[in-house]
Amino acid sequence: MKKALITGVAGQDGSYLSEYLLEKGYEVYGVLRRSSLEFKSRVDHLYKGDTKNELFKPLYGDVTDSLSINRIISEVKPDEIYNLAAQSHVRVSFDIPGYTAQTDAIGTLNILESIRQNKFESTTKFYQASTSELYGKVKEVPQTEETPFYPRSPYAAAKLYAYWLTINYREAYNIFAANGILFNHESPRRGNSFVTKKVIETVVKIKNGKNRTLRVGNLDSRRDWGYAPEYVDAMWRMLQTKTPEDFIIATGEHHSVRELIEYAFKLLDIEIIWRGSSINEVGIEKNSNKILVEIDQYYFRPTEVDLLVGNPSKAKKKLNWTPKVKFKELVELMIEDELKQQR
Ligand code: NAP
Ligand code: GDD
Repeated sequence: MKKALITGVAGQDGSYLSEYLLEKGYEVYGVLRRSSLEFKSRVDHLYKGDTKNELFKPLYGDVTDSLSINRIISEVKPDEIYNLAAQSHVRVSFDIPGYTAQTDAIGTLNILESIRQNKFESTTKFYQASTSELYGKVKEVPQTEETPFYPRSPYAAAKLYAYWLTINYREAYNIFAANGILFNHESPRRGNSFVTKKVIETVVKIKNGKNRTLRVGNLDSRRDWGYAPEYVDAMWRMLQTKTPEDFIIATGEHHSVRELIEYAFKLLDIEIIWRGSSINEVGIEKNSNKILVEIDQYYFRPTEVDLLVGNPSKAKKKLNWTPKVKFKELVELMIEDELKQQR
């Protein structure tokens, strides 16, 4: 039986990856941060109550704490480590750049060093959750594995360190270490301060009369939005190749925040028209003339990333990985789930 260790197991991707690996017969060790309320909504079903899975082993740890990380790695002796732990919010990384660097950059160092110090170089494979945010102020469209990076936030700069460290440990110590350069991927489990989940949760509240308006930032930024369960499959595939390499995982399509809002409202039979410009622009319900969308300066970043879109050809060719869920289907499935949640 293979053993996988997942940091960030209680996050969106960690929860889907746990289910995916358990399904494949892995023993899954999940690193959880201690919090004052013992409620990890995305993974509770794996280790509590009737649905508890004996192959899922929760462990307390924190990637910023090398002592706990080293203890966990030396005891578990994992075949595969998936490093998904991160302060993953780009906007928030401008508020807490130090914590973001400790977790997203030094956290990765703590894990790689532990693999090396325990002499697990030839037995433990390592997956690093790298990101399309590395491309930042993009140098070409679409982005490929060869496109130069231009990070535009403390989050992206910390992830750049982790990206290169992963390559360095691969080259210096022969560790099977791979970067997944994942473009935005979403699901009903997405944290509700990310734009897809926030928009979908709020438009359903507006439809149900529980919210008056949706307040957002840059309407015109464009993202390549895919479906998270398909992206965790790509993570696993990256660790099953003969030699470690870095891969872009993306749909190859891009859509704006404006389109996301329009389509989410449309699915609830509300047509939005736009009036005004810049910070004064508003989205109005065509039939009632009510303002439903407003712009809030708070949600803009000091340095914006306007357009991210990836070319997933390498993953298609070498991992036999192809995304099936595209923008419209993604919004539809998230709306459907949200309607159930808010019923
Ligand atoms: P997420 O939902 O924010 O999950 C991140 C997880 O990391 C959470 O469970 C969090 O714990 C945990 N964590 C934070 N700080 C930690 C620390 N110091 N020690 C241990 N655990 C810590 O993120 P996600 O969307 O699943 O993304 C997974 C990874 O992929 C992240 O590294 C992210 O940066 C990267 N990524 C995501 C995307 C995307 O579109 N989703 C795209 C590219 C790359 P709590 O649950 O206790 O808060
Ligand atoms: N969060 C948020 N909230 N974003 C908004 C809002 C808003 O109210 N209004 C507009 N946006 C715009 C942001 O400016 C950004 O251009 C875009 O919507 C997407 O924002 P997020 O959903 O917060 O995601 P992100 O692209 O910044 O970062 C996510 O994807 C990265 C991969 O590209 C995160 O998951 C990162 O961890 C990940 O690396």
